[in-house]
Amino acid sequence: MTDNRFPIDEVRAQFPALAITDDGRARAYLDNPAGTQVPQATVDAVSRCLIESNANLGGFFPTTRAAEAVVEEAHAGMADFLNAASAREVIIGPNMTTLTYQMSRSLGHLIGPGDEIIVTRMDHEGNIAPWLQLAEDRGAVVRWLDFDRDSYEFKPEALDPLLSHRTKLLALNHASNLIGTINDVKALAAKAKAAGALVYVDSVQYAPHGPIDVQDLGCDFLACSAYKFFGPHLGVLWAREALLKELPAYKVRAVGDYLPDKFESGTPNIEGMAGLNGTLAYLDWLAERTAGEAHRAPYRHMRGRGQALHAAIDVFARYERDLTARLIEGLQSIPRLKVHGITEEADIDRRVPTVSFTIPGVAPKEIARRLAEANIFVWSGHNYALELVRHLGIDETEGVLRVGLAHYNTPDEVERLLSLLQEHYGAA
Ligand SMILES: Cc1ncc(COP(=O)(O)O)c(C=O)c1O
Repeated sequence: MTDNRFPIDEVRAQFPALAITDDGRARAYLDNPAGTQVPQATVDAVSRCLIESNANLGGFFPTTRAAEAVVEEAHAGMADFLNAASAREVIIGPNMTTLTYQMSRSLGHLIGPGDEIIVTRMDHEGNIAPWLQLAEDRGAVVRWLDFDRDSYEFKPEALDPLLSHRTKLLALNHASNLIGTINDVKALAAKAKAAGALVYVDSVQYAPHGPIDVQDLGCDFLACSAYKFFGPHLGVLWAREALLKELPAYKVRAVGDYLPDKFESGTPNIEGMAGLNGTLAYLDWLAERTAGEAHRAPYRHMRGRGQALHAAIDVFARYERDLTARLIEGLQSIPRLKVHGITEEADIDRRVPTVSFTIPGVAPKEIARRLAEANIFVWSGHNYALELVRHLGIDETEGVLRVGLAHYNTPDEVERLLSLLQEHYGAA
């Protein structure tokens, strides 16, 4: 069954946390870039796993076999979510940062003194610090890709002078966790690949807002975090199978060289993977409920659940666009308030609904505190986008006020935020 209008009430009914009130006041979860709420399907899957599948892997009795099935389903589901060539390319671990540190240690084998690594001034620390430390360990040179302060985007030609035969790695983000820009990963990856470099993409902030196709992007690694896309606290790292086979893994001797086990040493978070399966089942439901032929057509070539998962995300991305446009328009009507990021309505497709702003003379954390008093949840500070705030000339001890929407937010919640900001900061 499909419907032309996004069924926001039905969607919200899937997320039990959205109905919680505090002293009779509804919560407005606008803290989504730091972590999203989960659907009932995720909660149920975690609890079912802890009751029915609570055993270690590799045995013959029912609970161990059930646990194996959970782990397999999670890898296959994420392969479909990312349109990976196979589940062997999907590594599931504690979070994006830990997986990136882990992979940086393996990649160190390909990098030597005088080699070059490119990192960007738009990235979260999770995709900068591991590479800075790797460069230091291996005597490599770090080059910085700056974004344009007016357009809040990378100018594609800015990458050219940084690339050379010495470039071993480009690490860049798919979407910024602070200014919301969506980067043209495909074009930037193509340039880096042409120079012979590997490309490591941080899709943590893109995954909750846009469908990902790793084969189309042309990168070598892509990381995301399930808790940012309505799942439990897990990180997921995709990489090309040939690379994973070639790279040495830091693992115990008892673990073989099979993929992805080679990069998943230790007992996995089985209940977390069960929760992730629940999240993907929620997206299946959403596709069934909302995605018509037009939404599915661009993903027709994808195998398994890929088509449904991608179409579901495509549907809610369209819903998010209107909310984002209204949020930005409302923020800009507040005198002196500056939105740091793309604001033109015509360019709304080039950003995710993560909108940061400052008001001169007002500390972002004071705004966050005031909004919290009204049960509106937001974050303030640099949000680990340290280089980004420095590049924009923002005081890093203060940072910005960050509002981050998800597909379960409503126009009413946006209006509630805007009227509170108008009331307190609207006087010119
Ligand atoms: C863009 C981006 N990259 C990386 C991370 C780190 O993710 P994790 O908490 O899974 O390590 C975050 C977390 O906020 C993020 O927003």
